[in-house]
Amino acid sequence: MSSPVCFVGAGPGAPDLLTLRAADRLRHADRLIWTDSLVSPAIAELVPAKCERIRTSHLTLEDVLPLLIEGYRTGLRVVRLHDGDPALYSAINEQICTLNDEGIPLEVVPGVSAYQAAAAALERELTVPGVVQTIVLSRAGGRTGVPEREQLERLASIGASLCLYLSARHVEEVQQMLLHHYPDDTPVAIGHRVSWPDQWLTIVPLREMAQTSRERSLIRTTLYIISPALVPGPERSRLYSPDHVHLFRPNR
Ligand SMILES: C[S@@+](CC[C@H](N)C(=O)[O-])C[C@H]1O[C@@H](n2cnc3c(N)ncnc32)[C@H](O)[C@@H]1O
Repeated sequence: MSSPVCFVGAGPGAPDLLTLRAADRLRHADRLIWTDSLVSPAIAELVPAKCERIRTSHLTLEDVLPLLIEGYRTGLRVVRLHDGDPALYSAINEQICTLNDEGIPLEVVPGVSAYQAAAAALERELTVPGVVQTIVLSRAGGRTGVPEREQLERLASIGASLCLYLSARHVEEVQQMLLHHYPDDTPVAIGHRVSWPDQWLTIVPLREMAQTSRERSLIRTTLYIISPALVPGPERSRLYSPDHVHLFRPNR
């Protein structure tokens, strides 16, 4: 029986941020179809030498689908490798719908998303009690657009830790709009190719977000985290407080 077509999250770039399951699927792949515009070549190299490797940066969905379908039907272990976590801006939805229509089984292996890698590299928590308890993952409208109800203006009004993907090209408008809702000294983490050997990661005040991006010519593979939680402070969670009793730590 053929193995399910496997959508694998490659994580942000560093091969050692792959999950064990992702590494296993790569090690056993017969056909790798990978998003070479965003996935590190070091990860694509983890497949066996005999594995067929297909880059997708120059392909359309119509090119990719037959590679998945025909691969499965000829008994190949097909891995479709996307950057980060496949649940976020990976365009797996349309691939999955087609495989469902064709009756082809599939599996999705999660990955570390760029915002998680950036927060970890900064050694910061994005949900600090008393400061912010919500993380919003979104993007500037751009060419693809976002539904009206999810306009950045509305999301920013919450004041949450706001992680913006795919937004570097629109950073001027983004900064201008965010300044309506966050103080101009709110820390903004700017991460370019986080976890890659040439990672660049910094924190600037919101008022310098666009200028810094421009100076570094950031366009691609850039993530922004706008968050009051990035201000270092001693606020602590109640979870480990001696007076906080719960199931695993009843009254002592
Ligand atoms: C098509 S989206 C895919 C997101 C991916 N599925 C994830 O969970 O991270 C690509 C965008 O993710 C962000 N991104 C992905 N990897 C990144 C990295 N290593 N460093 C900074 N941003 C990254 C950038 O905003 C980039 O434009």
